[in-house]
Amino acid sequence: MTTDHRPAGSPNDLGPVPETALWTLYHRAVEARRPDTLLPDPMAVRLVEDIDYPFEQRFGSPAEPSVRLQGQLQALRVRCFDHEVADFLLRHPRGTVVSLGAGLETQFWRVDNGRAQWLAVDLPESAALRERLLPAEPRQRVLACSATDSRWTDEVDPGNGVLVTAQGLLMYLRPGEVRDLIAMCAEHFPGDGMVLDAVPRWFSRLASEGRMRSGGYTVPPMPWGMDASEQQQLRTAHPAVAEVRDVVPPPGRGRLGRLVPYAVRLPVVRAKRPSVVHLRFVAKGRAQGS
Ligand SMILES: C[S@@+](CC[C@H](N)C(=O)[O-])C[C@H]1O[C@@H](n2cnc3c(N)ncnc32)[C@H](O)[C@@H]1O
Repeated sequence: MTTDHRPAGSPNDLGPVPETALWTLYHRAVEARRPDTLLPDPMAVRLVEDIDYPFEQRFGSPAEPSVRLQGQLQALRVRCFDHEVADFLLRHPRGTVVSLGAGLETQFWRVDNGRAQWLAVDLPESAALRERLLPAEPRQRVLACSATDSRWTDEVDPGNGVLVTAQGLLMYLRPGEVRDLIAMCAEHFPGDGMVLDAVPRWFSRLASEGRMRSGGYTVPPMPWGMDASEQQQLRTAHPAVAEVRDVVPPPGRGRLGRLVPYAVRLPVVRAKRPSVVHLRFVAKGRAQGS
């Protein structure tokens, strides 16, 4: 009999979907290490240095242009989420940020205001990894629970305002689960709502056929895709979804990067690009005419 001495929540034992949290972490760190970074994130850099995992072998070297590009694209997506969370915290300084599928996101260390409550929800193996690798903070909790299981809603005090984020999560759920999850959040947390991102349908199709590669790494199937032109359909998930707002990324690096906020509005790009959207929820009985 062999004895495995690897601690619970070892990064080398993760299943394909939980492992994607290492992919996003790595690309944030690649971007954060640049002197001209779009996303200062010292905690992500520290984690990648400390974790015993073959990041470069698995996801490619930062010397590769495709890895640097992914780093920049990740940073722009993350900046959209950070902006929405920071804006929420200005209006609700003691509010709660619920991060569904939190993985090894380091947003707390980028935007916390010293007063808010944070709840990170993830599958048991990812939650164990987060608890083991990230420093414990008194106002931040980790819950091992599927985002699709309403149990996590019982852990949230809605008193001071709630913002739910789902960054890099929904593409791994089935379309019906995405709809049910939005409805569950709308039902429980009227107010600021939910920030989520989606890959376009062409991306979801290629990933589900195992044809979406990043260096030598093949991204896992992504059952849910939504074109940016379909964003408003999210309103139909629940009557309390009062508004669907497209969150436009900030400018990127270089001449082309600076055009990003304009390019994403062009019809030809808009039809095929990824989305970040903010759903605003209203209380029961107020959805009509809002
Ligand atoms: C691409 S990673 C994103 C991690 C982090 N939000 C980020 O942007 O770096 C996807 C995360 O979703 C988590 N996940 C997948 N399915 C989930 C589910 N049903 N409930 C909760 N978390 C889930 C995975 O464990 C993983 O941590």
